[in-house]
Amino acid sequence: LGKKIVFFEEIDSTNTQAKESALDYPEGTIFLAEAQTKGRGRLGRSWSSIPGKGIWCSVLLKPSLDPTFAGQFPLLTAVAIAETFHNLGVDAKIKWPNDLLVDGKKICGILTEMGAELDRINYLVIGFGINVKHKLEDFPKEIRTIATSLEMVLKKEVDRVQLLCDILLKLEKYYFQLLKEGFEPIRKLWKEYTCTLGHEVKISRFNELPLFGKALDLNPDGSLLFELPDGQIINVHSGEIGLQ
Ligand code: BTN
Repeated sequence: LGKKIVFFEEIDSTNTQAKESALDYPEGTIFLAEAQTKGRGRLGRSWSSIPGKGIWCSVLLKPSLDPTFAGQFPLLTAVAIAETFHNLGVDAKIKWPNDLLVDGKKICGILTEMGAELDRINYLVIGFGINVKHKLEDFPKEIRTIATSLEMVLKKEVDRVQLLCDILLKLEKYYFQLLKEGFEPIRKLWKEYTCTLGHEVKISRFNELPLFGKALDLNPDGSLLFELPDGQIINVHSGEIGLQ
């Protein structure tokens, strides 16, 4: 990954760029921006991408897999980034499916988008945004209580280039492992890093009523095994858990 890098000083969104030019670039191309004017988050939200403070990056992958496997990639990315953070001494936890939190505050978000035909993925764009250099006052007021950055946590300078290299190396390792051995090894690691399992949570969903219940386990396909208050057990494939 990262043999080809497309760099923008300022762009609408690296995910949008990667999607629009997915067919023109090889697998492993990285789209990187110093600033995004229309950074996008999950569930149709925007993502604050202040110039020079973070890593705003999208990775283009072209695995020849059935689209049903796409949900495993954001989980894999969360594991790669969580492990990189741990190596820096940052105890990051994964909130299902793929938010990274430190002390309950969001430090990294992941947005995966796919182009597919009926039975084959054409491309996957894995976008991640990492808050690196922000001080508290750099965040928009409305997210100051729920967001943090690596430098706020570590109280020392972090080199964004080195950090991105470390993450891409891990992402590459786990990507090839997934293609070779399937999802199970990644699933084990995800369970080591998560703070979601075993807790009563609320899951907000796009255009649907929220669910309340207990997060029991991560299923082999990446969905969440969930117990409703009446004891019924269901699989939840997408949604967002409230910050605990
Ligand atoms: C979320 O937590 O809601 C996901 C946030 C993903 C943000 C990244 S920044 C790089 C890439 N480009 C985007 O527009 N979004 C992702």
